[in-house]
Amino acid sequence: MDFKFTEEQLAVRDAARDFAQNVLKPGVIDRDIHAKFPGEEIKQLGELGFFGMMVDPKYGGGGMDTVSYVLAMEEISKVDASTSVCMSVNNSLVCWGLERFGTEEQKEKYLRAIAEGQKIGAFCLSEPEAGSDATSQQTTAIDQGDHYLLNGTKNWITNGSSAEIYLVMCQTDREKGHHGINCLIVERGMDGFIVGEKEDKMGIRGSDTHTLIFNDVKVPKENRIGEEGFGFKFAMQTLGGGRIGIASQALGIASGALELAIAYSKERKTFGKEIYKHQGIAFKLADMATKVEAARMLCLNAADKKDRGIDFTEAASMAKLFSSEIAQFVTTEAVQIHGGYGYVREYHVERLMRDAKITQIYEGTSEIQKIVISRGILKD
Ligand code: CAA
Repeated sequence: MDFKFTEEQLAVRDAARDFAQNVLKPGVIDRDIHAKFPGEEIKQLGELGFFGMMVDPKYGGGGMDTVSYVLAMEEISKVDASTSVCMSVNNSLVCWGLERFGTEEQKEKYLRAIAEGQKIGAFCLSEPEAGSDATSQQTTAIDQGDHYLLNGTKNWITNGSSAEIYLVMCQTDREKGHHGINCLIVERGMDGFIVGEKEDKMGIRGSDTHTLIFNDVKVPKENRIGEEGFGFKFAMQTLGGGRIGIASQALGIASGALELAIAYSKERKTFGKEIYKHQGIAFKLADMATKVEAARMLCLNAADKKDRGIDFTEAASMAKLFSSEIAQFVTTEAVQIHGGYGYVREYHVERLMRDAKITQIYEGTSEIQKIVISRGILKD
């Protein structure tokens, strides 16, 4: 891995940093309090090309590498993890999945719209009874010749009400187990597709997480991704890249909290001196910075492997496992360093602490990452 970033990578990082500090930061506390989706900000981010960063320019994307994506995700997540989860789902799950496995027609019709920032996508795998155990899909897609009849419920879907293009995993032939699962592209507005209740969440409160209901939705056959029964492998491969996105989100939440803690420790005085001059605080900051740096290395390592076409499955899970765990640690310490101020909204760190928790849960819990890593290192 080359530790020196290119000028292009640094320019992407700086553009993301500017956007985060100047556009996202001013309203982030209000959006968190009122669980308000950052609609206008997301629109701007999409138009700037941050939703199809790695997509080939011939489909309207930015043609960037995964390292640039990690750098951008870190900057956006330092400030607003509700926005960065939308960015992560669009880049790594929806765009990557469509570009890698979609037909030319699907790419022209759906990928381009997301890559150019005109539409938002969603990835629909989780169900009331199928979260970690993703093979137990209960949503059915019955083959009706020229279309599938889709029925079922999806839970905790990021971009649930703001998306217009949904990649929906569903069971077509239960007897075949995971080999009977398909992924269908469902459009907002198809008859029988209902956006259900919004979740009232502990963190990433600006992100619109919904239940989705499918009642006899007719989905044309040409909207299936890949061969019949490819849906589970599609989901697994796509989630590998998604885990790099969430790992970088966790990294950003942690590095954002670290930056705030350092700044505060230089302003706040106790016992006659700035608090960073107390060794108790300086040691905390040293531990936090070391963990953040290690997480950054794991995220970049996974991204670098992906960019070089090397299997990155375990590397992505390691990055997600470690970054999400240190995000818990670093944000909690940041609150502690801020003392009473850390417990109130104005100082941002309490939000980062609440936001950090979800990174240990979505796109595979920490336990799922350990399954993936242990299988990888123990295989013959
Ligand atoms: N790439 C390609 N194929 C893969 C794969 C991968 N990374 N991982 C598994 N597969 C294949 C296997 O080879 C196997 O295929 P064959 O039978 O043909 O050999 C098939 O998939 C089944 O694999 P397993 O037997 O390993 O399946 P399992 O039931 O033991 O589950 C698991 C494996 C890793 C636990 C998986 O179920 C999993 O990752 N679960 C978590 C799901 C998850 O992350 N959900 C998050 C929802 S999305 C989200 O949160 C998005 C959002 O909104 C933010």
